[in-house]
This record gives sequence, C-alpha cells and structure tokens, in this order.
Amino acid sequence: MAELSDRMEQGELAIVRRAYAKQVLATAAVDDARVEAAFAAVPREHFLGPGPWLMPRWSRPYVPTPSDDPVYLYQDALVGIVPERSLNNGQPSLHAILIAAAAPQPSEHVVHIGAGVGYYTAILAHMVGESGRATAIECDPGLADRLAANFAGQPNVRALSGDGAQIEFDAADVIYVNAGATRPADIWLDRLNDGGRLILPLTSDKGFGDNPENIPIQRRGAVFRIERRGNEFLAKWISAVAIFPCEGARDAECERALAAAFEKGGWERVTRLYRRGDLPDEQCWLSASDWALAYG
Ligand SMILES: C[S@@+](CC[C@H](N)C(=O)[O-])C[C@H]1O[C@@H](n2cnc3c(N)ncnc32)[C@H](O)[C@@H]1O
Repeated sequence: MAELSDRMEQGELAIVRRAYAKQVLATAAVDDARVEAAFAAVPREHFLGPGPWLMPRWSRPYVPTPSDDPVYLYQDALVGIVPERSLNNGQPSLHAILIAAAAPQPSEHVVHIGAGVGYYTAILAHMVGESGRATAIECDPGLADRLAANFAGQPNVRALSGDGAQIEFDAADVIYVNAGATRPADIWLDRLNDGGRLILPLTSDKGFGDNPENIPIQRRGAVFRIERRGNEFLAKWISAVAIFPCEGARDAECERALAAAFEKGGWERVTRLYRRGDLPDEQCWLSASDWALAYG
C-alpha cells in the first residue's frame, strides 16, 4: 500500500473499520456479532485497488472520493468496480442482511457467484475461517483476473473465471449469489449440502438500469433464502433488491412468471421452493414449468 504518512495510519483505520462495521449492522438492523467482526476485519481498500474511488451518488452517476484516503471506503455506499458498465461493489448494509441470513459457520464451504473483485468473498472467507474455504466465481474476465490477484497466496480461497450457473464446483454449505437471476440454476440446488443455504436474488426485467416507470423496488427484485432439508427446499423472502443481471440464470418464461408474481404480491408468505411445475396455482407465488415458489 502507498505511503500512509499524510493519511490515516493502519491502527486508526482499524478503529474506523470497527465503527463502520457497527454502523453498517445498525443500518441493516442486523444483530450478529460474527458478521460485525468480519466487516471490522476485512480491508475494503485491499480489494478495490488504488483510490480515488468512484461512488454513485444521488446528484450525479459517479463522484470521485476527495482523495485516495481509504477512510472514504468505510461508508454504507456502493463503489464502482467497472463504472462504465454500472458494475459496483455492493451496498454493505444489504450484504450484512444477506450474509447474516446465509450464516456461514467455521469449517464450511462457501461458493460466491458474481464475486466481482472479492470484498464480500473475503468477508465470507473470514467467517468460515482457516478450517473452511471459499470458492469465488466471476464471469467478467477483467474482474476475474482482479479477483484471482486479490486472493493470490490465500490458501482457503479459490477464484474461478466463468459462468457460475454452469461451472463445476464442490458441494457447498452456502451458495451466495450476487447477481439477479430469474430462476435457480440446477447446479445451485444440486450442489447444496443438506442444511445448506442458497441466497438467491430474483429480478424481473425492470430490476436494473433506467427506471422510467418509477416501479417500486420490491416489485423489481427480491432475495430469497433457500435452505435444503434432504430433498426439500425451504424458502423465505429476505429483502428487496436492485442488482446487476446474472448471465446464464435468466430466461424469458421465468421472467414472465416473476413479473406476474411481483404484480400479485405476497412474496413474504413464500415458504417452499419446489423443483416441479405441477402445483395448484393457488399454492404458488411464482409458478414456472419446472419449478415454483409456494406458500406451503
Ligand atoms: C452487482 S455485481 C457484484 C459484484 C460483487 N459481488 C461486489 O459486490 O463487489 C454482480 C457481478 O456478478 C457477475 N456475474 C453476472 N452473472 C454471472 C454469472 N453467471 N457467473 C458469475 N458471475 C456473474 C457480474 O460480472 C458482476 O461482477
């Protein structure tokens, strides 16, 4: 890292990071000491590269931080990673909610799909500890190179370049998807260990980019926690979301089914995911030809 003489010293930055972790968890309304400790431990600047950094703001699409002082990264804010494609390092408070729901435990295997440059992979890896491991998958080749470089020499993190809806990975206790799908990819359900948790953002075609119709966010995207119990999958709505699309896990039929489901409302009552499409309509929030999100 560059000279810190006219910037915060590492010790001061550690204090800033602890305050940031507390604020992020408070904003998220999450009370989870392990998630807070992980946010306090992982240096965001290590993953985002040298500053100044570009942050999307209300007034203008992206505004550079006043300098390259890493203190500016310890806000509950998005940071551009490929700003020209509107690709950002995600909102810390949203990830605090999603990571708390995923609840990675020591020794577990976490698979992170749409890992970007790896900041949230590092938080997940911190939570599973040295006895656990993380597999980070990113489909954008430039980002995948940065991801691999950021974890060089870290034995419990494996970075893969490819489509996280297709690429082979070992069975996992947590599959943490960070891009908007219209359906769960088969491999995400197949490779979930018994008791494993899948964090699944589902977005309609209104979920990203311009929003000329001013559609409320909760009608454009929803994140579900799917937990495997034997051959059954429990499902629970966790959060609204607007997120970059997941290439490889979208299709037109499911997009239509999702749009109809958002229109209807009732996502908070979903309790199960089924891998079949023959359930009665009244049992389903979302019904597609070969899967469904249902109320019981
Ligand atoms: C919203 S960005 C989040 C990046 C990262 N999680 C972060 O917060 O810094 C979504 C990422 O998912 C990646 N992505 C989209 N579809 C993917 C797929 N099928 N497999 C792997 N990565 C994918 C995109 O290239 C992008 O980097």
